Amino acid sequence: MTLSTETPNQSPDYVIQPGGKLGGRLRVPGDKSISHRSVMLGALARGVTEVSGLLDGEDVMATLAAFRAMGVIAEGPRAGRLTIHGAGMHGLQAPRAVLDMGNSGTAMRLMAGILSGQPFDCVLTGDESLRKRPMGRVAEPLTTMGAAIETAARGRPPLRIRGGHRLHGIDYRLPVPSAQVKSALLLAGLYADGITRIVEPAPTRDHTERMLRGFGYAVETDGAVISLQGGGGLTACAIDVPADISSAAFFLVGAIIAPGSDLVLEHVGINPTRIGVLNILRAMGGAIDVFNERSVGGEPVADLHVRSGPLRGITIPEDQVPLAIDEFPVLFIAAACATGRTVLTGAQELRVKESDRIAVMAEGLQQLGIVAHETPDGIIIDGGALHEGSVDSRGDHRIAMAFAIAALRASGSIRVRDCRNVATSFPGFVPLAARAGLAIRAEG
Ligand code: S3P
Repeated sequence: MTLSTETPNQSPDYVIQPGGKLGGRLRVPGDKSISHRSVMLGALARGVTEVSGLLDGEDVMATLAAFRAMGVIAEGPRAGRLTIHGAGMHGLQAPRAVLDMGNSGTAMRLMAGILSGQPFDCVLTGDESLRKRPMGRVAEPLTTMGAAIETAARGRPPLRIRGGHRLHGIDYRLPVPSAQVKSALLLAGLYADGITRIVEPAPTRDHTERMLRGFGYAVETDGAVISLQGGGGLTACAIDVPADISSAAFFLVGAIIAPGSDLVLEHVGINPTRIGVLNILRAMGGAIDVFNERSVGGEPVADLHVRSGPLRGITIPEDQVPLAIDEFPVLFIAAACATGRTVLTGAQELRVKESDRIAVMAEGLQQLGIVAHETPDGIIIDGGALHEGSVDSRGDHRIAMAFAIAALRASGSIRVRDCRNVATSFPGFVPLAARAGLAIRAEG
């Protein structure tokens, strides 16, 4: 008899009892976008970058592991603190193995920009979900800049990047509003001759621009046009990462939909390019107060006070879509608990996230008794009564957490299958949610 030594690929289910309310004061983990960028710029800077509040989820750890594989020394993270000994713009070494970006589109796309400017070859790959996501959107403009990048069929990973190619700045209009593509080109632009100029069709998160300035690099923003001159250097600095508004969003919606809730979320990043979730929930009637506003390392931060109350369905303004792009799974739960119809359009990007978030959310909502219709670029949701049931997150962290929150208003328990990837963005979600009042447990 042969015994298999392989460990089964276990992914836990969440089982959540219905009802309850959320209360207390919470600080959710650090912002994922800012954490990735702090590791990247810290690794390329001259000097020692001290990061606090870093998200130690799997996505950011994949970025950190990639830099360690290229010779960067970093201590931590320990309780959110990471010390990075910058290698300088030209100090990275060729990795000995393929760089595995796990589940993270941000890591793969931004790294593609940095690695296009290096003198060595490398290969970037990822998990099953990431290997289905479009990389042509970065490979094509980087190739126009002079990079040598091969993708698998239809622009999918792995990406094979050949080093030693001279880059030159380009003028590029983004075909889709994407901070990842913008950032990849700006990071490649650091290594390019001349000016890299990007025009955005709509505002997207501007953490790369802000953090580059924090590391002493001049970046110009003139309306929709962002530009920088290549050839400069980065100077190490201290970074305090705010709590992630994308993680706070689960508790904002949970507190609004669960009667009797009253919750404060501390130290949340409220960068104007990220607050679509606040704008949309307020337009639906949600009571959220923003107080203690302050600036932390070039990023606006505040505490958010949220209480329960009725929501009404709305037509979501399309200009809010890029500003709330990661919050739609939980916003769809808010829509299911609202009175009347919510209509989302202009959001086809949701189909190429960690899962097809329109299809997977529509399927899960229907399982729980909600009338939800997919459209090519959005969804139509009629508010109603959430039943008990079992839904599949399809390995998508934000969908898993969104359906966990839905249990607060369900008539019976909810089982969410395949929740392992919650660890990519929100380590400690189960104990934190339980402390706030959700009757949740992980099984398996
Ligand atoms: C991110 C940008 C967004 C977002 C992702 C993080 C970033 O993606 O969905 O979770 O850190 O730049 P797109 O730029 O592809 O919309």
